[in-house]
Amino acid sequence: MKPAPSTIPRHIAIIMDGNGRWAQQKGLPRHKGHEAGARTVRLITEECARLGVERLTLYAFSAENWKRPQREIDFLMKLLRRYLAGERPTLMKNGIRFSAIGRLHELSPEVIAELEKTRALTRENPKMLLVLALNYGGRGEILDAARAFAGDALRRGKVPTLTEDEFAGYLYDPAGKNVDLLIRTGGDHRISNFLLWEASYAELWFTKAFWPDFGIEELHRALADFAGRDRRFGGLGER
Ligand code: FPP
Repeated sequence: MKPAPSTIPRHIAIIMDGNGRWAQQKGLPRHKGHEAGARTVRLITEECARLGVERLTLYAFSAENWKRPQREIDFLMKLLRRYLAGERPTLMKNGIRFSAIGRLHELSPEVIAELEKTRALTRENPKMLLVLALNYGGRGEILDAARAFAGDALRRGKVPTLTEDEFAGYLYDPAGKNVDLLIRTGGDHRISNFLLWEASYAELWFTKAFWPDFGIEELHRALADFAGRDRRFGGLGER
């Protein structure tokens, strides 16, 4: 099944939740859930690119995830490095560009190097942009943007007028587009500090499926549901 191109969301964002519970349910250690989750990242990325999605933003490590046991954090960072190194050929084959958002400078030099290498290698690719949110928090992003704006104002010696579009230019990715469809797996109904600015008019879609079990069929179900939504953006729409 392939949804009609006109109904494909331009920007999909996903809160990939449920790796730990998926593993627990199978009597496996939590890290096995993250490994399985990384396989789902590949599957869903390729399918989104195939369908013509322009931008896919994945919440891979939140600013709050540092509260987890150090062993789990270390595993996630190692997995991320392994994923990036292993994924570059697939990104090239599928014409996918890569980028990352968040307080990236607080990540380890080894992770930063892999991110930069992947970003540089894929920069000319013509298809979808895959964005990993890493050490990312939505409030932190807005705060960082406000600080950057204030820094600019100080340098110019005056506070210029500011539109929403101009402010968005100070976010981690100045070209970052509004989220059309925000998916959360794992059964909870929360935004969890993800893309607070960019998702202000996103259509929300929640599923009980744990992230490692989220597959192409489930993605198509979300897209079919999205295609039937009446997006009015505060207006009256077509009545
Ligand atoms: C939530 O599951 C998931 C994360 C905290 C990290 C997301 C990481 C991956 C999908 C795997 C690696 C990703 C890449 C890009 C290599 P959880 O641990 O909170 O699950 P739980 O709520 O069941 O405990």
